[in-house]
Amino acid sequence: MRSLVSTLALVLLIVLTGCSPDDAAPLLVAHRGALAYAPEHTREAYELAIDQGADFIEPDLQITRDGVLIALHDVTLDRTTDVAEVFPDRFREIQRGDETLRRWFAVDFTLEEIRRLDAGSWFGEDFAGARIPTLTEVIELARGQAGIFPETKAPETYVEQGFSMERLLVEELARHGLERNGADPETPVIVQSFSAESLRILREEWDSDLPMTFLIGGSDADRWLTDEGLRDVSEFATGIGPAKQLLLDHPGAVAGAHAIGLTVIPYTFDDPSPLELNHFLCELGVDGLFINNPDRFPRDGCG
Ligand code: G3P
Ligand code: CA
Repeated sequence: MRSLVSTLALVLLIVLTGCSPDDAAPLLVAHRGALAYAPEHTREAYELAIDQGADFIEPDLQITRDGVLIALHDVTLDRTTDVAEVFPDRFREIQRGDETLRRWFAVDFTLEEIRRLDAGSWFGEDFAGARIPTLTEVIELARGQAGIFPETKAPETYVEQGFSMERLLVEELARHGLERNGADPETPVIVQSFSAESLRILREEWDSDLPMTFLIGGSDADRWLTDEGLRDVSEFATGIGPAKQLLLDHPGAVAGAHAIGLTVIPYTFDDPSPLELNHFLCELGVDGLFINNPDRFPRDGCG
């Protein structure tokens, strides 16, 4: 039903305004902030991304022990902080094949403890002392300057801990008056997830009308990029975010998605050449890019 509604809305848009999604300027989504130049998911990375002209900044979401949404890519803190030095005994042992590994899970730490961690030194001494921000802090720093593209990351792992990431996200956005689509045109919000279930929960249980991008990149990726798969996506999302290689493997997917009103924003462009950017933006006609180098994003159109 939703796909029919969204298709009718698209047709109406084209009839009334002469515009299609293709006509909108493509979106620069700063992947984890300006990831190429600053430690991911820190204030420093997000502020640099905004300075470099990002339309959106992209916080991946995890949850602390006391139920606060923070901007962090991994479910663990080890890769991007000094947690192993600050809290040497607070690891869990996990089995990876024959190996027993020590991992420090974000959900085992309170926000107060996470605030003590250095999230910048691993990237470079210039960033020593950078902190993991909460989603509240990300919203506050972006407000009026850029949109926010939050990703519900591994939400199913938090259900076991008694948390609904979707509920926390909706409540946090509501605290800032951003829970409805178009609430603040200066700070638009698009939600993204690799979890179709997470987007369905937002739509159906929380009645969210926010635009939603379904990330595609797992072992079932090809299935979603067929005409039937794209129609299925349109039941719970307004766009797709495929790994960029998938669009090279499925050259008809952009047109197929646009034909039913889905936007297409592929990931991840790292140190891209002008040729690569031109191919995706101008030849394939995508609606935006998740990019590590916001300063490389071309603003001069396709000519
Ligand atoms: O969200 C788009 C892209 O960020 C997905 O990859 O692993 O960097 O979150 P990841
Ligand atoms: Ca992400």
